[in-house]
Amino acid sequence: MQSTHAIKVENLVKHFGKGDALVEVIDGADFHIDKGELVALIAPSGAGKTTLLMMIGCVEEPTSGKIWLGDEPVYDDKWLTKEQRKIRREKIGFIFQAPYLIPFLNIIENVTLVPQTNGVPKEKAEEEAMALLKYFDIAEKAREMPALLSGGQNQRAAIARALANKPQIILADEPTAALDITRSVNVVKMLKKIAVDQDVAVIMVTHDEAMLPLCDRILKIEDKKVVSQPVPENTKMI
Ligand SMILES: Nc1ncnc2c1ncn2[C@@H]1O[C@H](COP(=O)(O)OP(=O)(O)O)[C@@H](O)[C@H]1O
Ligand SMILES: [Mg+2]
Repeated sequence: MQSTHAIKVENLVKHFGKGDALVEVIDGADFHIDKGELVALIAPSGAGKTTLLMMIGCVEEPTSGKIWLGDEPVYDDKWLTKEQRKIRREKIGFIFQAPYLIPFLNIIENVTLVPQTNGVPKEKAEEEAMALLKYFDIAEKAREMPALLSGGQNQRAAIARALANKPQIILADEPTAALDITRSVNVVKMLKKIAVDQDVAVIMVTHDEAMLPLCDRILKIEDKKVVSQPVPENTKMI
């Protein structure tokens, strides 16, 4: 069976440990995310948000179930390729909570790292990285070390890095947790713009209810399943 969704998950299960130490984190999740969608992933701490992102990102192996990334089935009770790393590098952009960047590489080195690993020549990788840094209004910081940039600038550089390999999917784990409200709103609006302009599916874990009206849809982990909800109305401030 083929999927036209950017991400599709069927009967996904993730347990850690066994016997008395068994932790059932996700127990039969079914959902899909389309290209162009910015989806907020919410649930209490420890409910499995990071674990779910890491399974979709081919980092954490599920216990069972199915995952498609675009048309490609990547997991069906086992990984369907030995090349999870390649899938990750080619299809997925990761954005994390602070600290965002590799501290001993400058900004442009951070942004060009994955494309160069994927075989893009340095000059072309740098040219594309500069275009991204311009887009995020931090081109003048290209040769600076991350420590010299503000939190918001660092996070924008991290988003540029996540986009550098032209991913179909962006997985963002609490990307605004270390930012104030104004910068958080900017980052989320930026993620929405990327989703629309580049036809990318974005999943963003957030604890910040103020960010929800900026998203298209909510996925919530509830009773070890994943349920889809509409976003609340845009009530105040944004
Ligand atoms: N490598 C691991 N080994 C054992 N348990 C784990 C591991 N990673 C996560 N867990 C457990 O899985 C549950 C979900 O964790 P996590 O996905 O980090 O939650 P969240 O991101 O929603 O806070 C927690 O109970 C956590 O302790
Ligand atoms: Mg987490």
